[in-house]
Amino acid sequence: MDAKDKYIREHSSPQGEALDWVERQTNIRTNHARMLTGAAQGRFIKMLVGISGAENILEIGAFTGYSAICLASGLPENGHLDSLEINDELEDLILEGFDRAGIASKITLHIGDAKETIGRLRTEILDRRTKPMYDMVYIDANKREYCEYYESVFDMVRPGGLILADNVLWDGKVWADPLPQDRQTLGIASFNDMVAADERVESVILPVRDGLNIIRKKGLSSI
Ligand SMILES: C[S@@+](CC[C@H](N)C(=O)[O-])C[C@H]1O[C@@H](n2cnc3c(N)ncnc32)[C@H](O)[C@@H]1O
Repeated sequence: MDAKDKYIREHSSPQGEALDWVERQTNIRTNHARMLTGAAQGRFIKMLVGISGAENILEIGAFTGYSAICLASGLPENGHLDSLEINDELEDLILEGFDRAGIASKITLHIGDAKETIGRLRTEILDRRTKPMYDMVYIDANKREYCEYYESVFDMVRPGGLILADNVLWDGKVWADPLPQDRQTLGIASFNDMVAADERVESVILPVRDGLNIIRKKGLSSI
């Protein structure tokens, strides 16, 4: 953590014991702790949930459950989060974190490929709800697939709802000239181009951590 991040962390609300535990366990049990959403962005997305009044959220890419806990912590009592993760080896760790945070009853963890799970959720949600919509979607899974996630969830987001996409600055590679040709960089660059050209939304990329694209579906206003 550099000095700026350390200062921000020390002068923002603390993340709390459950997230401390998830962060520690992620460092001990995985080699990918850098994938965690992190304290400042975690607090920010929790606040966005509260400010926007979101009640139903979809998360694509749970990893060890850090961002899921942040999102669910911002929900009202009747709120719900569908959290999608492909790696079944993480399931026990994720669920223990949800229990420790006291928000397990608000979250359904779906283990499997997000693209299949989204298809299944679409059918289930359309079947069981008169309001077949998410108020917010948090995209943080395979960088090569951001465009697919976006297109597949778009009609499940209500007008005025938010789609948040993480890591959209991709460590600066997306504005490098020449553009690196690895599939992850190309995936994020295409996604950012697609969103910027999409007249169905308004969007702004904030330089929070590795870049957060905040995309609001035009229509009824909620914030
Ligand atoms: C950057 S991490 C998510 C970090 C998490 N949001 C957090 O803040 O703690 C990306 C996660 O997406 C998962 N993932 C990758 N491709 C996926 C897919 N097709 N479906 C569901 N999850 C996927 C990976 O297994 C990994 O755990």
